[in-house]
Amino acid sequence: MREYYSIKMRATLEEKHISGAERITTKDKINSVITQLLERPSYYDFMNIKVQKISEIQFIEKSLNIKTIKTNDYQHANQLAIEILKNQGIPQEVSTSCINLIHHGASPDGGNMRGAMIVNIEGERLEKDKSRGIRTVNVDFEDREKVTKTLLEKGYTERTVDALALATKNLNHPDILAEYCISDQPDYTTGYVAVKGFYYRITHLKKYGNPKGGRIYFVKNNTDIEKLYEYLQSKAFLIKELGDLE
Ligand code: COA
Ligand code: AMP
Repeated sequence: MREYYSIKMRATLEEKHISGAERITTKDKINSVITQLLERPSYYDFMNIKVQKISEIQFIEKSLNIKTIKTNDYQHANQLAIEILKNQGIPQEVSTSCINLIHHGASPDGGNMRGAMIVNIEGERLEKDKSRGIRTVNVDFEDREKVTKTLLEKGYTERTVDALALATKNLNHPDILAEYCISDQPDYTTGYVAVKGFYYRITHLKKYGNPKGGRIYFVKNNTDIEKLYEYLQSKAFLIKELGDLE
């Protein structure tokens, strides 16, 4: 049996989280992965790199398939996102109000959350802490280099590699129906909606210049929240292959 290690990096600048990344790798590659992660943020005041042996790894055969939707206008883009979510059984009024919240800062203090919102189809927020939310960790591609090369050649970004891995783990859980995501970087307006089988990459899902962002995990009404936290935070997954690309 191969042994795997999770390597997590996070960095802050002026006490604000500016960069986070994770890799799952074998022992022989730990040094080179740490070197790569060290170089990820250009400026920082503080960096933490954590290496943990994984006791049990599971495999997901294929990532979600990627489809790109090109839009010029964030309002139209969000109407399309709401339509996709409606097709997964998420009522329009629930998705609309949660999406509005993410665009204006979903933390109780009006800022960005440190993780994702969890919302059921009744529209109830289920995170244990509404400032922190939930963070999906312990996921990577088995052959990240190959996946990155393929995606970059097709015009996607490294950000897509990370987001696709995260969304694939999320949608692999039976109770997660969909995920909505916009970055909290003001100049990065591409976002996505992930549903079972598909990752819809949507250009201009938020207004240029908006510093607010976040993620919403839409779940079934009877979701066991303790088990969901355990799955997202503690279970480790490697994704074997890239799904279909457009
Ligand atoms: N956003 C904001 N703050 C974060 C953060 C994030 N993504 N990740 C960590 N922090 C800060 C928080 O203050 C956190 O305290 P909290 O648990 O009270 O919120 C503190 O760092 C410690 O967090 P911890 O979970 O112990 O960090 P970690 O060392 O295990 O690293 C990361 C976790 C950074 C690897 C993970 O959160 C992450 O960002 N993974 C990458 C996800 C990704 O690829 N995103 C890009 C998709 S486009
Ligand atoms: P990013 O894709 O890194 O720009 O992050 C966008 C938003 O997603 C952040 O503002 C957080 O609210 C949330 N987020 C960041 N990392 C995670 C994670 N690992 N799991 C769930 N949500 C996250």
